[in-house]
Amino acid sequence: MSKCKDNPRKPKRQNKVLTVARVDAIPEGRSATVQLNDGSEIALFKAQGKFYAIENFCPHKGVPLADSRLYGSIVECDWHGWQFDLRSGKCLTKPKCSIETYEVRIEDGWIKIVV
Ligand code: FES
Repeated sequence: MSKCKDNPRKPKRQNKVLTVARVDAIPEGRSATVQLNDGSEIALFKAQGKFYAIENFCPHKGVPLADSRLYGSIVECDWHGWQFDLRSGKCLTKPKCSIETYEVRIEDGWIKIVV
């Protein structure tokens, strides 16, 4: 049985709005790693016309989820195929291993993430 790993680089909730990129910097079906000042990380995806921000961490073995393959709004970890719903952070493979999602706002052509 696999246990969920804790993410040492999980962004802390601060109720802060971070401006991270222009909307045209991330094409459909692609992603980016957003590194915060404290070294924590978010994986930012564009899927089906919307932007999603999640922890950049697979709770199976801890690899980053940015750059993993997308199936619609499902991201699949490159290592062993665990799947996560970008909309909810729910782990479809091991429901107890769900991850955090962060609100994304689009303002004046900028992508902003609420941490
Ligand atoms: S590290 Fe094993 S599925 Fe992600």
